[in-house]
Amino acid sequence: MNRSDVTPDFRDKVIVALDIATVVEARALVARIGDAGTFYKIGYRLGFAGGLAFARELVDEGKRVFLDFKLHDIGNTVAEGVASVANLGVDFLTVHAYPQTMRAAAQGRSGADLRLLAVTVLTSYNDFDLAEAGYEADVATLVARRAAQAREAGVDGVVCSPHEIAPVRAALGAEGLIVTPGVRPAGSAAGDQKRVMTPSEAIRAGADHLVIGRPVTQAADPRAAMAAIVEEVAGA
Ligand code: C5P
Repeated sequence: MNRSDVTPDFRDKVIVALDIATVVEARALVARIGDAGTFYKIGYRLGFAGGLAFARELVDEGKRVFLDFKLHDIGNTVAEGVASVANLGVDFLTVHAYPQTMRAAAQGRSGADLRLLAVTVLTSYNDFDLAEAGYEADVATLVARRAAQAREAGVDGVVCSPHEIAPVRAALGAEGLIVTPGVRPAGSAAGDQKRVMTPSEAIRAGADHLVIGRPVTQAADPRAAMAAIVEEVAGA
């Protein structure tokens, strides 16, 4: 497959999660995916193992980068951290969806192109976990409330489960970005993801971007796996 086989817009919709231990392995994987992939997510694992320099490397190669660091701290610290991230030239950064944190992030981003995504309620949390942490609201209520607050705070969108897209879209408005992990092509292993959708289901439900890790990173042929997902997204 060459570049002209796939519309670039659809490649941009699929973000590959580089949950990989070393930059050397991540670089090799990105090379194997080649021009089938345009957008990569770097989280704690790679980020704290040289991943920030690697993010710049990807940006310099013309790739897009999503830094999934889920920032949350006092406002001043968040604003200054976001300003530093904006200088890296990456596209997306996550923050936790606390109003003060989101407002500070929006202020720190200032006029930069960086898009800020709020994590409403971590999908590993259920109602019991929230109660244990001192919250009275249940997950669904808190997700909707925080999506509305994300819009008010001036961040650009939300990361959520594909099953939460409808209420999140209602709270976020048509303009907000919705990015969803928990996506599995038909026939691939769910791993520890409990409530999954296929790429076409998630796009049809209203996701703007999908985050997909292991179905691509652990595929025998990551480039072919990626190309098949992009094709499915293009047909959704
Ligand atoms: O390998 P897999 O496709 O499950 O990877 C999904 C990626 O999305 C991982 O980087 C995971 O940390 C991230 N993520 C998630 N669920 C969330 C938030 C982030 O799976 N609620």
